Amino acid sequence: MKVDLAYTGNIDPNSMIEEAREARQTLETGSGKGSDMRGWLDLPHRTTEKDLQAVEEAAREIRQNDALVVLGIGGSNLGAQAVIDALVSPFANDSPIFFAGNHLDPDYHAALLDHLSETRYCVNVISKSGNTMEPAIALRLFRQDLIDRFGREEAAKLIFVTTGSRTGSLNDLARVEGLTTFVVPEDVGGRFSVLTPVGLLPIAVAGLDVGALVDGAREISAILRADDNDTVDSNPALAYAAYRLACYRAGKKNEVLVSFTPQLRSLCEWWRQLFGESEGKDGKGIIPAASTYTTDLHSMGQWMQEGERTVLGTFIDIETSGDLIIPTSSSDMDGLGYLAGRPLREVNRTAVEGAIRTHRDGGVPCARIEIPSLNAKNIGALLYMFEYACGISAYAMGVNPFDQPGVEAFKKNIRELL
Ligand code: PA5
Repeated sequence: MKVDLAYTGNIDPNSMIEEAREARQTLETGSGKGSDMRGWLDLPHRTTEKDLQAVEEAAREIRQNDALVVLGIGGSNLGAQAVIDALVSPFANDSPIFFAGNHLDPDYHAALLDHLSETRYCVNVISKSGNTMEPAIALRLFRQDLIDRFGREEAAKLIFVTTGSRTGSLNDLARVEGLTTFVVPEDVGGRFSVLTPVGLLPIAVAGLDVGALVDGAREISAILRADDNDTVDSNPALAYAAYRLACYRAGKKNEVLVSFTPQLRSLCEWWRQLFGESEGKDGKGIIPAASTYTTDLHSMGQWMQEGERTVLGTFIDIETSGDLIIPTSSSDMDGLGYLAGRPLREVNRTAVEGAIRTHRDGGVPCARIEIPSLNAKNIGALLYMFEYACGISAYAMGVNPFDQPGVEAFKKNIRELL
């Protein structure tokens, strides 16, 4: 993985390297706020074969049924959805996975229950606190459905719980009903938990290689965390953090993460939560937004190119993707003869280059994150790189990356109102 900073225009990421290095030191030494929530740093190294086997075994059990419904919100569902959407064909329909309990829309939940009315499905309810309203209500709905259809004892075999070890009503329910339970480590917060069973179980149910995902994170972790690896040329996370900080200090307060495949839409959503919830506090933080090009060039592209100059662009560039070739046509009536025989991949990557150059010339500093290809190992590395860069960036902005008082305030208020 490489972070290419050749398109940042008049923004100099190197001007922030010292601050980024100091923030990295704060992260590594645990001298900053929220330091007890840095368990994700070592997670790829402390995940054992046995941990992975337990996840894979439960996944096999779930796959013996016809579908999985994942109930969770925020850090409890976005990671799994990000990886599954990135790596599973959007048209695959063996072992379908549905996400619910991530909002309160009655129509959606009624439609899903209706859709599954003839299906024997499993539920994986994921909530670290065990008392978040959206998944808790959804669990009531889906558990009731399973009990009505299969009886309480059988329903208990179909429900899998992922929750924190200490508190929460989910733990109580799991104990009383004897539900298979996975534990979210205490020192890993929701949005940093994709490489715990929070993400790994649904990802394994999707048939993806969780070992490779963790391996990718492990490998990049060794590179990013090496003491002497502290330049923008050699350390992708430092480079990305320094670039964002330099942009922020220059008044660029909106970051758009751009991918060139719809398969990365959910990953961009995951990234949005990671940075938004980690940095957006104490009146600080870059607003994270996401776009899929070239689709959005025909909608948000105008704003990016000529709207208020407070935006920075970060592009995810996949070097190798499908080998679809643009066909030759005897008539060439569409005027595309010059593209005949060329891979569509090449056209898409040219669009990356074209968009970056155009935006840079329009006053939008851009960075390009280069990924060799979309596979579990590279996605694991990308997720970890973003997490590490986020920790650095939030500390450099002077905020605690690991709490979310604003989210807690909303959770409390809605409970009180109800
Ligand atoms: O990152 C976070 O901590 C939050 O976004 C949580 O993941 C989200 O609020 C869900 O919380 P819980 O897993 O406790 O249900």
